[in-house]
Amino acid sequence: MSGSQAQARFITFEGIDGAGKSSQIAAVVALLEARGLCVEQTREPGGTALGERLRELLLHEPMHLETEALLMFAARREHLAARILPALAAGRWVVSDRFSDATYAYQVGGRGLDPAKFAALEAWVHPGFQPDLTLVFDLPPEVAAARLAKGGAEPDRFEREQRDFFERVRAAYLERARMAPGRIRIIDAGGTAESIRAEVEAIVEECCLR
Ligand code: TYD
Repeated sequence: MSGSQAQARFITFEGIDGAGKSSQIAAVVALLEARGLCVEQTREPGGTALGERLRELLLHEPMHLETEALLMFAARREHLAARILPALAAGRWVVSDRFSDATYAYQVGGRGLDPAKFAALEAWVHPGFQPDLTLVFDLPPEVAAARLAKGGAEPDRFEREQRDFFERVRAAYLERARMAPGRIRIIDAGGTAESIRAEVEAIVEECCLR
């Protein structure tokens, strides 16, 4: 099947803060567009007007950990209904900076949310639906923290967390990848931008464009 005829796919990017997924997202969007595909780039929390308002609260307002998990899924419910599912149905590819794997990693792994509560929310909000491909950018937290510090932006509520929090988030991503080895691919984010890009493009080719 040629690229332009491939069925619309949902591709997500994950990893701890500072793992460097942003530039790789742009490269994948450019790759897909170069194949003549129609692509929607989006993010979580966010992606809709309501979701972006929830993002502001989630990134800056102190709250109970279960409130945090519920708001992540509330934003996701809206994102799916208003954006992701209509786009896929219309044949547009969707590339999202984070999705439910982030809730597993950050709220279950990082914050200690009961995994059964996560599973209940996931089964409620998107029963039987998962990304077609998820790329997890894996990096030791100390390296990611150094990259973030170099960026110089004011840290949000998550970015202010300590190294042990990000160790748990990282471990939860790797655990989640072991549970879904076909869908989730781990990228060693410690290489050069060019080598990472080549690896990412090869995976997207193999999984989505053949
Ligand atoms: P991020 O996507 O990294 O955006 P930016 O690069 O602009 O900082 O920031 C979103 C933050 O939200 C990130 O720290 C991870 C967190 N998050 C969760 O804790 N749970 C979730 O379900 C999602 C989608 C994000």
